[in-house]
Amino acid sequence: MTTISTQPIAGQKPGTSGLRKKTPVFMGKHYLENFVQAIFDVVGAAGKTFVLGGDGRYFNDTAAQVILRMAAANGAARVIIGQGAILSTPAASHLIRLNKTDGGIIMSASHNPGGPNEDFGVKFNMSNGGPAPEGVTEAMYKRTTEIAQYHTLETADIDLSKIGRTAVRDMIVDVVDPVADYATLMESLFDFPAISAMFRGGFRMRMDSMCAVTGPYAVEILEKRLGAAAGTCVNATPLPDFGGMHPDPNPTWAKALMDEMFGANAPDFGAASDGDGDRNMVVGAGAYVSPSDSLAVLAANAHLAPGYKAGLKGIARSMPTSAAADRVAASLGIESYETPTGWKFFGNLLDAGRATICGEESFGTGSDHVREKDGLWAILLWLNILAARNQSVAAILAEHWAKFGRNYYSRHDFEAIASDKADAMMAALRGSLPGLPGKVLEGLTVQAADDFAYTDPVDGSVSKAQGVRILFADGSRIVLRLSGTGTEGATLRLYLERYAAGPDGLDLDPQAALAPVIRAAHALAQIESHTGRVAPDVIT
Ligand code: G1P
Ligand code: ZN
Repeated sequence: MTTISTQPIAGQKPGTSGLRKKTPVFMGKHYLENFVQAIFDVVGAAGKTFVLGGDGRYFNDTAAQVILRMAAANGAARVIIGQGAILSTPAASHLIRLNKTDGGIIMSASHNPGGPNEDFGVKFNMSNGGPAPEGVTEAMYKRTTEIAQYHTLETADIDLSKIGRTAVRDMIVDVVDPVADYATLMESLFDFPAISAMFRGGFRMRMDSMCAVTGPYAVEILEKRLGAAAGTCVNATPLPDFGGMHPDPNPTWAKALMDEMFGANAPDFGAASDGDGDRNMVVGAGAYVSPSDSLAVLAANAHLAPGYKAGLKGIARSMPTSAAADRVAASLGIESYETPTGWKFFGNLLDAGRATICGEESFGTGSDHVREKDGLWAILLWLNILAARNQSVAAILAEHWAKFGRNYYSRHDFEAIASDKADAMMAALRGSLPGLPGKVLEGLTVQAADDFAYTDPVDGSVSKAQGVRILFADGSRIVLRLSGTGTEGATLRLYLERYAAGPDGLDLDPQAALAPVIRAAHALAQIESHTGRVAPDVIT
């Protein structure tokens, strides 16, 4: 073992999903090593088994070798690693659980672009397969501020290209097929015969993996196991720079898919997933499904899939996600939960058996089958529902809205704002909250305004200042918060919602339906005077 002296590097504070920085920062001297040592110092490595893998972005392979050496030097007994150091985030979560390991390290910056000058990230997941909770990530951060040394080995790189068992000194390294166990899990949850019969019957799909990690998973599951036509999966080879794509499955970044789905001769169903495979976007021929609606439709129809035929225990959504899923929970007579942004807040509810399905407005949906959101899982559940109902996506959405009403919804992102300006804006807004109830803006009366605080119903932990909520008397809602995943300045997220109960207005364009709410938000938060921004950079 070699022990290297080091010193703290400022800013190694994990955000919503682990530590994310520009790749050159991660490649800087001792940067990765310090953070990995902080992880091992907090969770302990001696005698333990970990899963390791990443989304294949630039620096993934080099970082994997660094982490393997450090795991061995810190006394880990075994590391299970995806071939080529590749694992989608949900597949990593599954392997952690399946092999009853002590946790795992995932190398990814999710949906952020990859490359020598783009983003990289490292995240620790616990033995339940889910992201480390705040108490643990805080401890890791604290450790980074005190670190004085890290442990490593002087060994050659280990060959990760071949499946099989090898070793780094005394530590066993199992190089596994990144896809096989995950595909088997999917097969246990969904009605593969019904979905493949639908494909044989001429059902056409487009799956866009955005040159990121789900390519091999999608080809194996959709084309090989389910018999979708060859070529259904596009951008299916993971590339270190994602082919220059921004692997974030939303209408802005998955524009080619949107154009195809809204063009002539559109396939029946389209889907895309992000860099590390935990996000998804689904779209029917001429019918975009917002993530909040997707969660609600999946929850309302999950019983059609074999893995959920016993029904759901509860539905959880992040606070900024629309209330559409709450209406489904109410009609099913099950609990609904509203949690802060970030998948880690679902972990306790899933572990305790209180929620079965969870979702976020940010193109994240998942269930208790793993402890991460899962893009291909959502896509397969949609396929299962389409096969069982034998209806189009548009028809399923229309029936859903007719039954439950429609929660018009949109998120506006204002990116790369100077952090001090964004902070000043949020501080002013927070300060104004007590005076807001009763105020009328754009014909909307403010009913309540607060800064969302969450008490975990399982362990009682409290998370404060999770985003400003302004609720109006007619059920409309504005939420503002600053992103915890950005790597450049601050990103303001403005979430907008309005509920329409009856069949009236079910077909409005969301931006048109939300126009008064949008104007009210700008007036309340004074976005322009604080940040100089008039219009968002990304609308989803
Ligand atoms: C964003 C999303 C959030 C998601 C996270 C990780 O975080 O808004 O829902 O859990 O990415 O995928 P944010 O940048 O808003 O903190
Ligand atoms: Zn992701």
